[in-house]
Amino acid sequence: MGDSVPVLSEGGPTLIIGSTGFIGCFVAEACLDSGLPTYLLVRPSQNASSKAATIKILQDKGAIVIHGCTEDQKLMEKILKEYKIEVVISTVGGNGILDQLILVNAIKAVGTVKRFLPSEFGHDIDRADPVEPGLALYNEKRRVRRAVEEAGIPYTYICCNSIAAWPYHDNIHPADLLPPLDEFLIYGDGTVKAYFVAGSDIGKFTLKAMNDVRTLNKTVHFRPPSNLFSMNELASLWEKKIGRTLPRLIMTEDDLLTAAKELPIPESIVASFTHDIFIKGCQISYSLDKPFDVEVCSLYPETPFQSVEHCFNEVVKKILDAT
Ligand SMILES: NC(=O)c1ccc[n+]([C@@H]2O[C@H](COP(=O)([O-])OP(=O)(O)OC[C@H]3O[C@@H](n4cnc5c(N)ncnc54)[C@H](OP(=O)(O)O)[C@@H]3O)[C@@H](O)[C@H]2O)c1
Repeated sequence: MGDSVPVLSEGGPTLIIGSTGFIGCFVAEACLDSGLPTYLLVRPSQNASSKAATIKILQDKGAIVIHGCTEDQKLMEKILKEYKIEVVISTVGGNGILDQLILVNAIKAVGTVKRFLPSEFGHDIDRADPVEPGLALYNEKRRVRRAVEEAGIPYTYICCNSIAAWPYHDNIHPADLLPPLDEFLIYGDGTVKAYFVAGSDIGKFTLKAMNDVRTLNKTVHFRPPSNLFSMNELASLWEKKIGRTLPRLIMTEDDLLTAAKELPIPESIVASFTHDIFIKGCQISYSLDKPFDVEVCSLYPETPFQSVEHCFNEVVKKILDAT
């Protein structure tokens, strides 16, 4: 792909893979909000109703749907060429991580994509070291990183840390759930801190980063200082909101390791990440001192992050609206 910096043209077409998913929906919304021509790769699906509703909302905002899946390299090449796609953002879930290897081949073969954001959207997977089964997922993500780098594809890795919500250790997508109303499960001594980022901010800052020459071939870390909380602090914030104090039960390191071993996937994967975050401190245990690290608040100091308190208010509102 040459050594020159690939500059995106104004309004460069962007392809989002995984827009019916949890993270992909935030990214697709942000892409549409930014006014870019937004193409969504959508797979045929058996349980179409909830996904169809998501797609309809995105289409109403201007998204253009293309049917297909990443496993079809020829189709992906055709799509990338035909729609002159400049940026590809993948938000495929755990089951689809290795499917991105075929996508990487397609991007390489076409040679016109100016930025690829593979499905990361969590921790720095080259630094974090969770127990199994989280490790297996990280190994897959690491394979995708190495394939992207070997292919010489311009990339950005988004490490947005935790979604702003109560971190349930056995739950996949906690952002639509209220924090506890009866008792807290506190992991370890509850003092290890993590960064909590609103889903809409994950979308918004991903869009800023993908179109920024400073993030070319870099890992973008989301570390807003105001959103750094321990479990104990998060619990106190929620107690203040509901106006009462809840009992705090300790879930020890051993309890979390047992959950990672014994729960079914995907709950066991979440348990292994919970152990990595709140026992080992995987989000805060290293400094951003490598030439490939950039931090999002330093890149965009003028753009504030939503507070965790605001996110708690939003989830309460969403649940009240639905009842
Ligand atoms: N930081 C956090 O707190 C956090 C939380 C959750 C996830 N994550 C990370 O974010 C990323 C996305 O996870 P998620 O939970 O949002 O995933 P998800 O909800 O399972 O959604 C995955 C999306 O990818 C699509 N997809 C999967 N394989 C595909 C393929 N081969 N071709 C085309 N589309 C495909 C799915 O399409 P269908 O609709 O057809 O199934 C769906 O739209 C992952 O890397 C995950 O580790 C981070």
